[in-house]
Amino acid sequence: MKKTLFLLLLLPLLAQGKGLKDTYRRHFLIGVALNTRNVNDDRQLIIRNFNSVTCENAMKPAEIHPAEGRWNFREADSIANFCRAHGIKMRGHTLLWHAQFADWMYTNADGTAATREEFLRRLHDHILTVVSRYKDVVYAWDVANECVADGGPTPYRDTRHYRLLGLDALRYAFRYAREADPNALLFYNDYNAFQPAKRDRIYNMVRQLKEEGTPIDGIGLQGHYNIYGPDMALVDTALTLYSTIVPHIHITELDIRLNNDMGGALDFQRQAQPATPEQLEAQKKQYRDLFRVLKKHRKTVDCVTFWNLTDRDSWVGPTNQATLFDTEGRPKPVYDVVNH
Ligand code: G3I
Repeated sequence: MKKTLFLLLLLPLLAQGKGLKDTYRRHFLIGVALNTRNVNDDRQLIIRNFNSVTCENAMKPAEIHPAEGRWNFREADSIANFCRAHGIKMRGHTLLWHAQFADWMYTNADGTAATREEFLRRLHDHILTVVSRYKDVVYAWDVANECVADGGPTPYRDTRHYRLLGLDALRYAFRYAREADPNALLFYNDYNAFQPAKRDRIYNMVRQLKEEGTPIDGIGLQGHYNIYGPDMALVDTALTLYSTIVPHIHITELDIRLNNDMGGALDFQRQAQPATPEQLEAQKKQYRDLFRVLKKHRKTVDCVTFWNLTDRDSWVGPTNQATLFDTEGRPKPVYDVVNH
């Protein structure tokens, strides 16, 4: 009798099949970037498919530390507590970035520009506070994000932190993160990290910083792709090159959009339009080709994170249908292409 009851309880789970995290358990963690709505409304979908979580915005300096001495941990704590309750590890995102940064750190209370020392004191306080608060659940941090130029005469993006400190901003940020959590994996994270020119700039910068003793454990390739590119052979080449200087590579923000907004600013608000069969086939091919490359590099690729859970949440809007789940949170046909 008990055995029959057990099987009856087990059958629905078996019928559901394996979630993404089970399918890739022998290869790498499968992660997702979440907002607080997700942890209220989409709990089962997350638990079944993912074993790593990134806060889409809640841990960014502008959100969590909006002014000197003022902290807003509510949203980050909500997502971190969900992960703690369900044994899900987290990626911290991010500590040093030109966008959504705590720009008040560059200016003193009297309105004068902060010196290097004044800025670094604030950055140290920020990193020690945030990294220490979540060190029990966060296993990896995007310490520095998007510091390499896409093109132009200098290899580095012309940011406020670069103008004030040059590469010292990254040297100190990584050292502060290591001081706060000796066990966390510390990543440099960027987009278009497959493009040969940018790939080589990232490679040269990370190699130089590591040779000088900066504690960098990994490189994050964001993975914001579309149905027209990249050719995943470029990602393959980049992973091979990066793995010669770091033991850990993460795909940190994966989505493959239909590019329905091609030509203009990304349209975040338009409703999802029916995709053409050609677009859907192209998207499946991109996801299929990418995961074939990632499985080839499973010795160094140890986490693949999707950016946003559903098309409803996607930063490129539902029109681009970039995720594996539709606006109602239902798996799309492309989910089965990835989950096999
Ligand atoms: O928090 C404010 C809120 O107070 C205000 O009422 C509202 C209306 O303006 O804006 C809210 O801030 C928004 C923020 O997301 C939090 O929701 C910003 O306007 C909006 O620009 C911001 O967009 C985020 C974007 O980063 C900012 O650059 C996206 O959600 C997020 O998905 C995206 O993620 C980045 C990664 O962190 C780094 N790699 C690129 C990726 C895509 O840009």
